[in-house]
Amino acid sequence: GVYSLIMAGGTERELWPMSRSGMLKPFLDLFGDGPMIQNTIRRAARIARMEHVLVVTDGRGRDMLLASGVIIDPENIIVEPYARGTATCIALGAAHVRKRDPDGVLVVMPSDHVILDEDAFQGILHAAIGEARRMESLVTIGIRPKSPEIVYGYIQAGEVLERPDAGDEGKGVTLYRVRIFAEKPDLATAIRFLESRDFYWNSGIFAADVETLFEAYRRCLPDLYRDMLSVHDAIGTRKEELVVSALYSWSHPASIDMAIMEKTGDIVLLTGEFGWHDPGSWDEVAALITERTVFSGEVGVPGVVAVGAENNFVIKPGGKVVAVVGASELIIIDTPDALLVCGREASYRVGEAVHLLRREG
Ligand code: GDD
Ligand code: MG
Repeated sequence: GVYSLIMAGGTERELWPMSRSGMLKPFLDLFGDGPMIQNTIRRAARIARMEHVLVVTDGRGRDMLLASGVIIDPENIIVEPYARGTATCIALGAAHVRKRDPDGVLVVMPSDHVILDEDAFQGILHAAIGEARRMESLVTIGIRPKSPEIVYGYIQAGEVLERPDAGDEGKGVTLYRVRIFAEKPDLATAIRFLESRDFYWNSGIFAADVETLFEAYRRCLPDLYRDMLSVHDAIGTRKEELVVSALYSWSHPASIDMAIMEKTGDIVLLTGEFGWHDPGSWDEVAALITERTVFSGEVGVPGVVAVGAENNFVIKPGGKVVAVVGASELIIIDTPDALLVCGREASYRVGEAVHLLRREG
């Protein structure tokens, strides 16, 4: 069957102070429509049966998930002892999927994204699942880049591959062979990629049948592959916890992007438009909220007034009344115990402030 494998880990300094006290980014409710993880699970359940929606997270993530009231079978929360990066996270998840169904197909999804057009998203995922079975390759989903971001992976599209049966779901979706996968390039390279017009951003979402994925690990990460097999054999036995903690005790932090996607030749690219966003800074969140607010016809934030002040963005879960006077282009995030005042253009530097605050203790 089809399995959704949702990754939920890591912290996001750039969204301080909302992402405070170790709050994982997937659990933030930035748009008032529920935590991103909840929306991810809902989308995941549109392509796989609810019993096949798996979340990989740590112990804290599991507790947050169970406390959040999100509908998920506790059996389907796979707990990591530590965050060791996405390569290990996916290895563990894939071992579980293979145990349940050796012929299974997985769709791996980050849980820190916003997707505006869910029907288009579902369509492209169905196409990806079909191609994963047909091509026996990793099928990554690419997004047309809008700016030379250095926080994304880039995928160069090669020759267009034939799609014998695209059907309705395949409308507007193109399948390419991949030339180059380049994770988080420097700015000069990102600009070059953007100008060459055949590069796409890596969405971080991909589909693969479980055998093909195991084979990619065997070739690119042979040590981790051996541990995947041991974990697979130990799942459901008394040894499971021991074998998993052995895996995490040595496994070095590595991302699937650098450890597998950049190395394996066995990868194809599907592109399409579905309103994808990875809100990685307050400026991006502000742009997205504005887009959504315009869309839903709401205007202004109650309890915020502006005098001679323009283009400020205020979020105030702290509940205070806020007045901005004679100051423009600011991002103001007020929570009960921390306040961010930040120039719009500088919001990518919030992580530096978090670093300084930590040093102060
Ligand atoms: N369980 C678990 N364990 N989840 C993890 C871990 C881990 O060790 N590390 C990261 N994750 C989860 C995060 O919660 C997120 O949902 C997803 O995996 C991706 O990790 P990020 O840390 O957010 O990666 P990124 O945004 O810097 O880069 C990735 O995503 C970009 C698009 O958003 C890469 O795949 C890039 O190539 C891609 O462009
Ligand atoms: Mg991310």
